[in-house]
Amino acid sequence: MGKYGCFTEDGKEFVITRPDTPQPWLNYSLNGRYHALISHTGGGYSYYVSPLNSRITRRRYNSLPEDRPGRYLYIRDNDTGEYYSPTWQPTQTPLEAFECRHGCGYTRITTRYRGLTHSILYFVPIDADIEIWRITIRNDGAERRLSLFPYVEFVPGDARDDLLEQPNSSHFKRAWFDSEVPAIFAENRIGASFLPEEERAKDDGCWGKVAFFGSTLPIVGFDCDRNRFIGAWFRSESNPLTVQCGRLTDANCNSGHLCGALQHEVRVAPGSSLEFCVVIGVADRREGRYKIQAMEVIRAWSVERADRAFEELSAWHERFCDTVRVATPDESVNRHVNIWNKMQVKATFAISRDASRFHLGLTYGMGFRDTSQDLLGYIMFDAPAARAVIRELARQMFPNGYTYHNYFRVQNSGIFTNHSDDPLWFPLAVSYYLRETADFALLDEVEPYADPKTASNAASFVSSFSESMQELVTMNPGYACGGPGTILERCCRAIEKVWRDRSARGIPLMLGGDWNDDLNECGKEGKGESAMVAAQLGAALLAMIEILEFTRRDPRKVTEYRAIYARLKEAFNRECWDGEYYWRFTRDDGRVEGSCRNEQGKMYLEPQPWAVIGGLADAERGLQAMESVERYLETDYGPMICAPPYTASDATIGAATREAPGKKENASVFNHPVTWAIQANTILGRGDAAYRLYHATLPEVLSRDQDRFATEPYVYPEYTTGPAHPEYGKGGHSWLTGTAPWMLLCGVQFILGVKPLFDGISIEPCIPSGWDGYEVKRRFRGSIYRFIVRNPDHVQARVSRVIVDGVKIRGTKVRDYRDGSEHTIEVTM
Ligand code: GLC
Repeated sequence: MGKYGCFTEDGKEFVITRPDTPQPWLNYSLNGRYHALISHTGGGYSYYVSPLNSRITRRRYNSLPEDRPGRYLYIRDNDTGEYYSPTWQPTQTPLEAFECRHGCGYTRITTRYRGLTHSILYFVPIDADIEIWRITIRNDGAERRLSLFPYVEFVPGDARDDLLEQPNSSHFKRAWFDSEVPAIFAENRIGASFLPEEERAKDDGCWGKVAFFGSTLPIVGFDCDRNRFIGAWFRSESNPLTVQCGRLTDANCNSGHLCGALQHEVRVAPGSSLEFCVVIGVADRREGRYKIQAMEVIRAWSVERADRAFEELSAWHERFCDTVRVATPDESVNRHVNIWNKMQVKATFAISRDASRFHLGLTYGMGFRDTSQDLLGYIMFDAPAARAVIRELARQMFPNGYTYHNYFRVQNSGIFTNHSDDPLWFPLAVSYYLRETADFALLDEVEPYADPKTASNAASFVSSFSESMQELVTMNPGYACGGPGTILERCCRAIEKVWRDRSARGIPLMLGGDWNDDLNECGKEGKGESAMVAAQLGAALLAMIEILEFTRRDPRKVTEYRAIYARLKEAFNRECWDGEYYWRFTRDDGRVEGSCRNEQGKMYLEPQPWAVIGGLADAERGLQAMESVERYLETDYGPMICAPPYTASDATIGAATREAPGKKENASVFNHPVTWAIQANTILGRGDAAYRLYHATLPEVLSRDQDRFATEPYVYPEYTTGPAHPEYGKGGHSWLTGTAPWMLLCGVQFILGVKPLFDGISIEPCIPSGWDGYEVKRRFRGSIYRFIVRNPDHVQARVSRVIVDGVKIRGTKVRDYRDGSEHTIEVTM
């Protein structure tokens, strides 16, 4: 039992038992279009499709208290005049009981105050682009006369404009109450600057949506102007004058800070309950359809409809989680793999690094490398969705194998940064997809290549130092700009691009940076090298050779790739081995970094596991490298990304040298590369070592001291602060991190060993020797595979016998049945 909360027995909910947690603890409810971030005291914001372009409610950046505004309800007792909020924020009234349950796609806050018990269930339905607050107020005392005020602060449309240009952009914003619907509407007549001209014209230059806010109770008052609702500049949501007086001002707002505030007058008899719903949504501005659409939604969404939608949501998540279920001797592992790791994978797949408490939804859009990795964990749940995203990624690649670093779905544009690793994530994503689905038709799908002229930073892109790109653009404009190509062709071009951009001694160049974003200045002149990219290239080559051979395509390429692989392996081991581990990179001036020769940043984590994953390290060096990880990087919370931290800034290395020691890329425990260390250990058959790292970095283990850890105890943070910082052990950047998909793979595929193959599914456990066994139930290509693994000899790896449906088979590969039925695989280690 943690100080602020813990999981329910079945792991399906995390129950927060007091409101004053070290930070706001968030949950996500989303259906791929409507997204809601919901904190445990009713904070958080909503957006439709894009948090940059289509914001619905506001997040006030850099404000105190941090988590404001939110989805608030005020309750005023009309006999005493006392008012409070049943989610604790924003009035912070000392409630007699407080409980917030974050569940799969919903959050329920239940509290008690002066004879009333309130429960607010927040969720976004599966198939309606709205959010529901389903509210119950039970009265255990004498009759109560109450005023109720549901409240949100609107930011219709462009959130960056709202932040940067607020005083001016407020002149384009309007909110009004329409009693016919009845609902409050909020519009933004400047919201479409990011769209192409033709698109903009369709909405008269306005945000193409109109937000609405309604309730199932009769509305007796409203406010659409936040400042009118709050009542005075020196007040806040904590003490709005209107609520204090018990009367809203019935003011529309034409220019200003928009809000939606509704007033309901109710009597709640002794022993009875009041139930109602608040509904927020977006409707089409175009041709004025919004009023009818909003009316239809608000009339349709009764309490009963909300309850049905909530059942559908729960059933949806049951099915989602049922894709794979594990039962191991470690309850923390079970809870995590069965529920919360999946929830984080779902959010990360949907949102990339776009909208969280740490990602502000204003600048980044989708990351090419991020999304390529995020989808790895999601393929098993929804292969068609992953497939569509792979095709989207394909459109971000240029004909020469370069890619945008990040891109914007709504605007259909991207930013080029010349990161050397980006292209390599693409073949990796394709190979994981093919393993799950055997849908080799993907390889022949055709997509247009990206056109360098449409890059958001097109000018700098074309003049960048990438010679091969220059060549393509100037020599052969037709080829460079757009034009179609297959997915397979792209996988090859990605690999060939990275191999082409190598140093004289055969190590891929760092260029604008690699996976580690903060090694961004060492390769600017096009000379510095990256050992991590070298090892990653090894993995990509192996993946492509396997695909080409299995599908019997292009034997010439197979031969060519084998030759490249051999040269790469030789160069890597000749140049990058540092004695006890692989060094990390060289600067443009040739100095080697991440090496025992350095004072700071003597060793980096990333190249060690990748050398094993890419097969470039032989077993002996691989083992030595992973043992060095334990010797030089280990902390109480897992291995650091590098050590010792940089304390002197160095513009020939990059931002890592300027970050606070112990934070982020400067010697924190970056959980994303920890996943690769786990994977590498399993490849080396080191089950105890793999599990030790996996267990140590489980969110509920990292958060054993919830005050110290501070971020949510149910999801991975991107990093845990390292020992060089006074906040050692504090989580940073929770929720949206590539850690989530990779950790799910670590649990299910690498440790428990259930590995999809092109033509079946294999069972190759690499587990702690202490385990007696475990079970995994996995849905795979329409059949159910139930693995029952026994470990009588307490080994870490190696399978001695596999019996499928009562019949002993040779090896560990189980057939691809595709028969819709269940198969039992008894495995003895
Ligand atoms: C963040 C970024 C990711 C990057 C990593 C390491 O997680 O989202 O793209 O690889 O940091 O710098």
